[in-house]
Amino acid sequence: MTVDLLEKYRPKLHFAPKQNWMNDPNGMVYFEGEYHLFYQYYPNGTTWGPMHWGHAVSKDMISWEELDIALYPDEHGTIFSGSAVVDWNNTSGFFPDAPGLVAIFTHHLDGTEEKPSVQTQSLAFSHDKGRTWTKYEGNPVLGHETKVDFRDPKVFWHKETEKWIMSLATGQTITFYSSTNLIDWKFESEFGEGMGSHDGVWECPDLFKLKVEGSNEEKWVLIVSIGDNPEFDQGSFTQYFTGSFDGSTFTADHDSIKLLDFGKDNYAGVSFSDIPEEDGRRIYLGWMSNWRYANQVPTEGWRSQMTLPRELTVRKVGQDYKVVQKLVKELNSYFSKKEDIHDVIVDGTKTFKMDESNVDLDLNIERVDAEQFGITLHHTEEQHTTITFDQEKNALVVDRKNSGAIDFSDMFSLDQEVKLENIDDIQLRLVVDSSSVELLVNEGEYSVTSLVYPDKACEGISVFTSNGAIKVTNGYVSSPSK
Ligand code: FRU
Repeated sequence: MTVDLLEKYRPKLHFAPKQNWMNDPNGMVYFEGEYHLFYQYYPNGTTWGPMHWGHAVSKDMISWEELDIALYPDEHGTIFSGSAVVDWNNTSGFFPDAPGLVAIFTHHLDGTEEKPSVQTQSLAFSHDKGRTWTKYEGNPVLGHETKVDFRDPKVFWHKETEKWIMSLATGQTITFYSSTNLIDWKFESEFGEGMGSHDGVWECPDLFKLKVEGSNEEKWVLIVSIGDNPEFDQGSFTQYFTGSFDGSTFTADHDSIKLLDFGKDNYAGVSFSDIPEEDGRRIYLGWMSNWRYANQVPTEGWRSQMTLPRELTVRKVGQDYKVVQKLVKELNSYFSKKEDIHDVIVDGTKTFKMDESNVDLDLNIERVDAEQFGITLHHTEEQHTTITFDQEKNALVVDRKNSGAIDFSDMFSLDQEVKLENIDDIQLRLVVDSSSVELLVNEGEYSVTSLVYPDKACEGISVFTSNGAIKVTNGYVSSPSK
């Protein structure tokens, strides 16, 4: 294979494996100055296969160094998704000398015609900052007699009750278990019946507490990914619940469906464990793909990438609590400001020409009287992705029908639409990379994450209106620091 083909579509700012297949982020943890990203990895091909944990480390969550495979399949099965924690106080007994990392993951054993597959939870620990791992001799540590879908343990230390809490995806519910030593687990409660979306199997939960912006109030947030169901148009997607957690039971504020992302390409996202309290951020990233077409996307030699890392907070909007996302500030040093925009009236089209492998755009827009306005991202002269705000629909639509290669899936070219309260005052942040467009609207209240496969990342950006004008009160377009 030529280098060109291998490098086509390879992101500059997003993590992608050098070779072969990747899906979910796993074991995300911060320890001794490094962010660790493990991930579902198949080292022998570019489609999903027997799972391993790949491994990468970073000092800033943007530039990653890929390391050796961390976990290989064994007699208990292949290595499905899970989490990692720092066992600061040697609760497990694995760390008599100094704190280290424990990975809590699912072992998956394929079924046969007579016997269903088996999923159990297991442990591995590392004394050398995640470079080498020892599987616990007593694996597996948690199984189930009847549940076939029993996976994706996400563990955290619950200070108030001094216990480890595991959230586990159990069919179409999340089950919580507790432990004092990461080895012996006790059932606490099960959440989910009649709550949120049940369009598919529930996967990859994550439970954590967040501050509500501008107040002393706190909310617990439970993220739940939902697997692809061929009966629906959206493929796999991610929902969340806000509520409370008392160390045993999660109680949601609502039974309605809340989406973490309105784009097609943000799945199985979970957050880093053990980010120091002085930092205080809750940072997550997702797998930037969709089970509907993940195995078909047109990259050669490698497949899949992660979203950019994003800081999560909760915002109270009216009576509603929303999880909002901000791209981490570490991203800023990868761009040097190019053009500031102040008080520009657009009535028609204003184009910024450039030729960049990635772009960061931030705009505050007041609608004067335009019926529609938006951004055309010109990848090349023919290929573009369009973001349109429509006053009549009170909605935002991301259209990637002309974005480049699209014919690997019928679903890829369907519009991605988000209903908004109004479009009179819009703030948007857009980050474009070789094969993705990440859009955050109204200081992170809405996220639309989309893959695209153009021949080039960006030759220009137009701000356009139809039937009237807008005012861009301020903003910037910036391109990479050289
Ligand atoms: C989510 C998922 C997980 C599972 C893993 C297998 O994308 O289906 O539930 O652990 O992928 O690779």
